[in-house]
Amino acid sequence: MKRLVFGITGASGAPYAARALEFLRADGSVHVDVIFTKTGRVVWNHEVGTDPAGYGFPIWNPGDFTAPFASGSARVDGMLVLPCSAGSAGRIAHGLSTDLVGRAADVTLKERRPLVLVVREMPLSLIHLRNLTQLAEAGATVLPASPGFYHKPQSVRDLVDHVVARALDRVGIDNELFRRWSGLGDSDGD
Ligand SMILES: Cc1cc2nc3c(=O)[nH]c(=O)nc-3n(C[C@H](O)[C@H](O)[C@H](O)COP(=O)(O)O)c2cc1C
Repeated sequence: MKRLVFGITGASGAPYAARALEFLRADGSVHVDVIFTKTGRVVWNHEVGTDPAGYGFPIWNPGDFTAPFASGSARVDGMLVLPCSAGSAGRIAHGLSTDLVGRAADVTLKERRPLVLVVREMPLSLIHLRNLTQLAEAGATVLPASPGFYHKPQSVRDLVDHVVARALDRVGIDNELFRRWSGLGDSDGD
């Protein structure tokens, strides 16, 4: 079974995290360890409002560095930070490891496993851009929460699914959450 660490930070975009957790629960092929930052939980409560324990995955305290995945020796296949705040991105870029999201991301990079940061901020300052560049240079995938429109979304859920699908793709989790581009002939006119 695949093992995924799933960090949820205090950027807007908790519905992306909720949709990803809903998919992963239904899929059933991945063990997921969830970490909320303190502000991640505040934003989740504001934007989603449900009890995340309902997905059935373990939820770790952001100050608990005893979690197995805080060590590189634990078997983990990758990490998703969704949504990823500019603050968390900056801390990860500089290896600060001041909370469990930061430490798990630091471990993911040093072990050269896939780390996907679904960053949500606009506009981006020079500081953000430099931090994101450093993350990309260190091997992370920087995946902005910016849905496309080529799959002809009909609802907010379709937009959310596009971002979630591309993030799951990058940590190697198969999904068909949106209609993939297969050329103009296939997608035009319906
Ligand atoms: C409702 C709400 C929305 C926010 N949206 C964003 C956002 O989209 N991007 C961002 O970088 N920070 C956002 N913030 C600010 C972060 O939560 C704040 O910088 C916090 O320190 C991030 O901490 P964390 O990375 O530990 O979760 C938001 C805060 C609140 C309360």
